[in-house]
Parts: sequence; structure tokens; C-alpha cells
Amino acid sequence: MNHPAMQGLNLNTPPYVKHAKLIAWVADMVALCKPDNVYWCDGSDAEYQRLCQQLVDAGTFKKLNEAKRPNSFLACSDPTDVARVEDRTYICSAKKEDAGPTNNWMAPAEMRNTLQPLFDGCMKGRTMYVVPFSMGPLGSPIAHIGIELSDSPYVAVNMKIMTRMGKAVFDVLGLDGEFVPCVHTVGAPLAEGQKDVKWPCNKTKYIVHYPETREIWSYGSGYGGNALLGKKCFALRIASNMGRAASQDGSGNPGWLAEHMLILGVTSPEGKKYHVAAAFPSACGKTNFSMLVPPAGFEGWKVTTIGDDIAWIKPGADGRLYAINPEAGYFGVAPGTNMLTNPNCLRSLDKNVIFTNVGLTDDGDVWWEGMEQDAPGKALPAHLIDWQGKDWTPQIARETGAKAAHPNSRFTVAAINNPALDPAWNDPAGVPIDAFIFGGRRSTTVPLITDGRNWVEGVYMAATMGSETTAAITGQVGVVRRDPFAMIAFAGYNMSDYFQHWLNVGKQLEASGAKLPKIFTANWFRKGEDGKFVWPGYGENMRVLKWMIDRIEGKGQGVEHITGVSPRYEDMNWTGLDFSAEQFQTVTSIDKAAWQKELELHAELFKQLEHHLPKELEETKAAIERRLAA
Ligand code: OXD
Ligand code: MN
Repeated sequence: MNHPAMQGLNLNTPPYVKHAKLIAWVADMVALCKPDNVYWCDGSDAEYQRLCQQLVDAGTFKKLNEAKRPNSFLACSDPTDVARVEDRTYICSAKKEDAGPTNNWMAPAEMRNTLQPLFDGCMKGRTMYVVPFSMGPLGSPIAHIGIELSDSPYVAVNMKIMTRMGKAVFDVLGLDGEFVPCVHTVGAPLAEGQKDVKWPCNKTKYIVHYPETREIWSYGSGYGGNALLGKKCFALRIASNMGRAASQDGSGNPGWLAEHMLILGVTSPEGKKYHVAAAFPSACGKTNFSMLVPPAGFEGWKVTTIGDDIAWIKPGADGRLYAINPEAGYFGVAPGTNMLTNPNCLRSLDKNVIFTNVGLTDDGDVWWEGMEQDAPGKALPAHLIDWQGKDWTPQIARETGAKAAHPNSRFTVAAINNPALDPAWNDPAGVPIDAFIFGGRRSTTVPLITDGRNWVEGVYMAATMGSETTAAITGQVGVVRRDPFAMIAFAGYNMSDYFQHWLNVGKQLEASGAKLPKIFTANWFRKGEDGKFVWPGYGENMRVLKWMIDRIEGKGQGVEHITGVSPRYEDMNWTGLDFSAEQFQTVTSIDKAAWQKELELHAELFKQLEHHLPKELEETKAAIERRLAA
């Protein structure tokens, strides 16, 4: 390459890459980041194996016992780099109001000035991996392409599992196709002869999005959503911008939705299939719900997974909403996963897995808190090495509270490992959505399940959703924060404009005569006076799904209350579960005083979001208040 920015370094561009703009961009980034070498990933299995071996040789990966966990690895991160860093995540739109009050913002020019010296020479002593990926089936009209430049081979191998990654992407891109440029560095250049650490990263971190130019720049972290830029950064923050922008081109196109949602298929014993997309905040069991195994009493019912974290949803020619999972793998939370909570998931983890920050057993396998419950009564491991490399025994755990696995420890596994994978998971056309579910983690107030009376009421409930925080983000655990649409950390533009986009999509589709999906609100997490969860959750959530399907079919009975319609005890199928009417009352009751307080919190949210807040939401709030006072 003879790009003027190149000072003699070979870009190693493969002959099949012919996209001049892409090559020029890589050359610019090489000139800026100054890696020692450039490597273009082809996405082959041989390459994956080679890079994994390289990670083993570097000490980043530990190969697990081949007999117990074939072709699987454990990585343990730096203890300061274990989760997404929301306080370091920025939406740098030209105007501050377009990022809105729920996003960190800095003027693009100022951010570029801040990042320039950090990226200058940031890859010295390292290889820059050029990672081409498609979010969504290659060539699908719903899919989009990204190119991530990263100095982390851990990122390259994770991207191979999480996306459609490799050479074929260049066929789709051709000479001038569009791609989202993503630059990632761990921010740890190596001086001549300096020995690397197992998990390089930097105390300083920036996860930056420029929505107008659709760029992603990530500095200082090697972990999860901070570093695997196809996931939260592209598929949610940038894609939410793309979806709304598509509604603003003057063509009358309603645009599309990029959502923090699992997608599942549910098939009745009669063979009728429904599709549900559900938004829950991080670490509220989306993966579990998407792989649900119907319990006793639901013989003949089948639940299949299309996606576990993200949905891209576009109106089809028939006016229905069609969803694809832009990802190709699962980056799920390990602790608590066992044969009771999620047998399909545990089976997915039998082979070809990258584990991050779980415990390493003495026989070279993995372990995390809650895993022992896969065989009730099974003893805890007598000894293991915890995620920080320290000895762990049940006694040490009792005495010090030390965890074998970090609470946000993860597995990375290909969707094709999932025994419950839906046959349509890879269908470029997507699946038609019959219902949305929004569900926070609330120990009080919000009932088990509510059917919104209409689209606007459903949008209101989603917009005002609150949830108790978990370990997937840094900060205090167990505090209720508003998490509209489970998108507080992922909406890449002003949240009120995002609400408006949802309302517009509904209005436009309804006007075209389409039947809109129903919108339900769920809460699996109500607690009793003893502080324990009352609803058994997991597979038993099938009972709630069944009631929803009855509602879709227009036959589900229920009782109207302030925010919609919920089932009475007799409206649910209880075969095979011992759950009393009193317990049901505990998870469904509406406590007027608690709701009065809740509405004060909605008012606080609306005050924060007053710029462009849709008036329909204010009106819906007033209607709920009137019902509460009645
Ligand atoms: C995730 C998250 O990693 O939501 O999926 O935090
Ligand atoms: Mn998520």
C-alpha cells in the first residue's frame, strides 16, 4: 500500500479486499495507532484455533480439560476490567440535546481532541487485527456490516463466535459498500522488549460513539460490551440511530427498531407458532427466558431461541414487525446457570466455549456459584482456583465471602450450540412478532404480568420501567433505577425522541391497517415478607407465556387495573405446580400507596426527559393517576 500515511509498514491487505475507502481508513488507523503488525481475520476455523493457541501461549487463555470441555478456554481479566463502564460511555452527537439527559455527552471535536493523543501509538508492540463482521445473516436486507480494528486477539476470537465474522463479509461489501468503522484498543502499548501482561488494559477508559458519522472508538478495556463492538455499541447505540434515521428520509418509511430484546418462538401442541420479543435489563434472565423449557403441565409446548440479547425489528410488506437477531452467539452471565435454571444453556456449554472470569477446578474444568444446583445435594468443589487466581475452598468462601466466579463472569458460545435453537434463527427475513414483553427486576409494586390496553399504554409502561441494578454494570447493586425499554445504557440518542419513534412506528403501522403486536409488562422478581422471591420463575414462566398467547388469541381472561389487564388465579394453568392463590396474590396485587410513590418516580423521570417528551405519555400518566384515585 502506498497511502501517504504509511511509513513503510505493510498493511498486509489480502488480495480479495478491494474496498478503497476501507483500505484508506485502515491505513489511517495504522498510522495513528502504530501497531507492529496488521492481520486481517478470515474467520476460518483454522485461524480461530491458531489465535486461541496464541492466547494460551501468552497466558491469557487456559485450555480446559479436553475430555470434560472440548475445545474450550478460560480467560481471567484484570480485576479492574470486569464489566461495561457506563460512566465512561459517550454519545458524541453534534448537539447535546440529541444525546439527551440519559447519555454522557461531549462535543465531537472536543472528544476527538481528547482521544487523539490516547490513540496515538496505542498499539505499539502489538498486532492490529482487522475484524470484518456482519450483524445479521450475511447479505440479509436487515443486516449491516462493521469492521473492528482491535489490538486484542481475545476480541478477535470472541467476535468469531458472536458475529458472522470473516472473509465473506468483503463479498457483501464489494467495492464501496457501507460499513460501521469500529476502533478498539486495550490502551497498553508495549515498549521494545517489554513483556506483556495476561490481560492488558488501561485505567483510563472511553467508549465513544459518533452517531452522525456512525463511528465507534473504544479505549482502555478488553471486556465484553466495551470491546466486542458489534454488540452494545453497534447493534444498539449506533443501530438505534440508524433505525430512527430511516424514518426521517421523507419517504414515509416508518424506520426500524434496534432493541435490547431476546426473541423466542413458542409452539403450541396444535403446532401454532408465536414469536415474542422481550426486553429485560442486563442480568435479569434474558438468556434463561429465551431458552425456557416448558414445565410439567405443558406437554407438547415448545420454546425455541432466536436471540438472547438484541433484536433488530423492521416492518415487513404486510405491515407486521419482523425481527432478526443480529448476533450469532451468546455472551451470557455464568453464575446461577445450572440444569434447573437453564438446562438448554448448560448443554450449549458442553464444548467450544470461551469462559471469562469463572473458577477453574482442579481437574481443569470450570465452576461458578450456583452450578452445584444442577445436581441437588451435590457437594461444592473441595478446591479450585478462583477468577483472580487465588485458592478457593468452601471454607474460604464461608469465611471471607470470596467468589469462585466474578458475578459478571461470562461464557461466549455460538448460537448453533443451543439445543433449543429455532430453525428460523438465521432466516434473513426475520420472524413476525406477536408480542413484546418489558420486564424489570422489582421486589414490589409491578405485577407478574400485565397486558397493556393499547400500543400507547404499552409504550408508557416500557418507558417508565424501573429495575434493581445487578452486577452487569459497575456501581451499586440492588438500587432501583429507571431503565426505559431496558435501553437506559443503549439508546444512542435522546430518550424522549426514542419514545416518540416507538409511538410513530405504532401509529403508522396501525394506520396502514396492520395488527400491532401486544405489549405486556412482566415482573418475575416480587418478594415476600421473608425477602424471598415468591414466583418460581425459569421454566414456570411458560405459564405466563401461555396466558399471553390466550390474550393474543382474544380468549385470555383477566381483571382490569390501573395499568392494564392481569390474570386472576383461575385464568392461569396451574397443572404441575403447587402455587397457592395467596402466593399469586403476593405477585399480582396492586398496592395503591406503592403505586402513588411509583408515579412520583415516573414524574421525576418525565421531568428529566421533558425535552421532546411525547404528550401521549403525559396523558397516559394522567389516566393512570385518575384510575388510581378512583
Ligand atoms: C449484556 C448486558 O452484557 O446487557 O448483555 O450488560
Ligand atoms: Mn444485554
